Amino acid sequence: MCGIVGYIGPRQATPILVNGLRRLEYRGYDSAGVAVWEGGKSRVVRCQGKLQGLVNKLEAEPAPGMVGIGHTRWATHGRPSDINAHPHKVGGVSVVHNGIIENHVHLRQQLEASGSKFSSETDTEIVAHLVAAELSSAKDLTEAVRRALTKVVGAFAIVVMDDAHPDTLVAAKKASPLVVGLGEGENYVASDVTAILDETKEIIFVEEGDIVTVTRQGVSITDPQGKPVERTPTTIRWTAAQAEKDGYRHYMLKEIHEQPRAVADTLAGRIDLENDNVTLDGIVVDTSNIKRIVMVACGTSYHSSLVGKFLIEDFARIPVEVDLASEYRYRDPVVRDTDLVIAISQSGETADTMGAVQLAKERGAKVLAISNVLESSIPRLSDYAFYTHAGPEIGVASTKAFTTQLVSLTLLAIHLGRQTGTLSPERARLLLAELLALPNKMAELIEHGAQLQVIARRYGNSRGFLFMGRGNQYPIALEGALKLKEISYIHAEGYSAGEMKHGPIALIDEELPCVVLVPQGPLYEKTVSNLTEVRAREGKVIAIASRGDKEIGSVSDEVIMIPNTLPELQPILSVVPLQQLSYYVADHKGTDIDQPRNLAKSVTVE
Ligand code: M6R
Repeated sequence: MCGIVGYIGPRQATPILVNGLRRLEYRGYDSAGVAVWEGGKSRVVRCQGKLQGLVNKLEAEPAPGMVGIGHTRWATHGRPSDINAHPHKVGGVSVVHNGIIENHVHLRQQLEASGSKFSSETDTEIVAHLVAAELSSAKDLTEAVRRALTKVVGAFAIVVMDDAHPDTLVAAKKASPLVVGLGEGENYVASDVTAILDETKEIIFVEEGDIVTVTRQGVSITDPQGKPVERTPTTIRWTAAQAEKDGYRHYMLKEIHEQPRAVADTLAGRIDLENDNVTLDGIVVDTSNIKRIVMVACGTSYHSSLVGKFLIEDFARIPVEVDLASEYRYRDPVVRDTDLVIAISQSGETADTMGAVQLAKERGAKVLAISNVLESSIPRLSDYAFYTHAGPEIGVASTKAFTTQLVSLTLLAIHLGRQTGTLSPERARLLLAELLALPNKMAELIEHGAQLQVIARRYGNSRGFLFMGRGNQYPIALEGALKLKEISYIHAEGYSAGEMKHGPIALIDEELPCVVLVPQGPLYEKTVSNLTEVRAREGKVIAIASRGDKEIGSVSDEVIMIPNTLPELQPILSVVPLQQLSYYVADHKGTDIDQPRNLAKSVTVE
């Protein structure tokens, strides 16, 4: 995930910037850079790879000066490289940016048409061009930034410096974190408190739409219209280690809470409301030659593929098979050149998924990768790559990577359905509107997680758990069971609720909690029947149901209400309480949540 640090004061900026970036290293990044001003102009030094590479470069060619900005980049637009690393400089204007500029294609075309020359593939460079253009008529740097930002759609935290305004840094925030650190005759700006906690504990948390002018003497903040606003500083009492997790006790919990943002980022720039369609970052999958789709993946990514099957078959009416990558690669599968193979991998490095992709390609299929890591091995090996924009996931148990995979698959299915003509514009419009509403619904759902803490304590000493669902909730039952066993070491099984009577029902007694996914939808009644079968055998029922369901309380021991959405999108919400339940059960048991025993984040061996 990208990180920002800025400094203005009486000391050398470079060591402060590098130290701040080092504090952000844990978040994952692929390149780093600084811009430092001295003697009338700033010098930009950037380097792909680890921060140490930048430090070596700076030792060879120092960047002295007492004003500067620094950045660690986690690529989203444009591959990891020296030229795509931040800061981006246009004329005298240097910019660092976290987030995604949604209208970057349009803005870039406009700027190029009026003669601007780009030196990188990033969306960020657009901001530098816009600010540089506004500076010719703006009264100061703050004004230029304000005007430039009126043209930008998306999520951002930016910091701008300009060679002609060396006494000022200007920062702005929209839907991406930004803080200002206060010192004596010196001030700081950063994307995260962690980056500047070694320098100051007096922090202003910048709010939505704020534009901040930072000088040595002080900080002034205005709203998007230029009206001054007051923000009260907070004295931070966290340690640096706590700050790395934004105050959360574990990365997993932090990542659960990051999901609304991650989902919004995955949607950003991809929804075409004018045409009731989706743009897949320039990927056009020609459906005329596709007779079948085969999805290959492992673990949690396999579960998202199972949901993907429902979506693609429903919207595009193309038959879909889903296979565990470790099985597919060794079972001599039938592969045709009319197959589209979709490989899903958060890390993009899973050995089994990579093996499956290699095999599919050797046998003539086209491969589309869905991954969270730009330029990782699986996307590089594939014909097309589509990225979830979840930001790096550090906890071994996948959470935000899963929900953004579901969102990506929904986008892909809509795109395919519009191409085959089997998804009407009216239905697509409805789906797109509901997708856009998901981040808020998810945020509200996560905030009500305290109930899960109570349930986790109540059932956390059970020897086993059963998770049940039907239709597109069945893969979510599998995912809930996987999550629980991964981090709490409690045996859990995910089952299709309709399959219970063929065996697992024998397990049910008063000791066995059964989590039943029963949101409103076409299979509601049938799932309620399965749930009552559990109840009739003394099983304890924890129901995940839609808000407003008045019946479910009378047949369940616990009810967790989730916001309403279209049944096709329900899995994106219904999985959230299961993530929280697993987290709180594991916390209750005191296991190592972020690094559970025997597991690795990226499984690069067979
Ligand atoms: O990086 P990938 O998505 O390819 O990883 C696949 C699995 O190893 C992964 O999903 C694993 O199951 C997670 N630990 C689940 O939380």
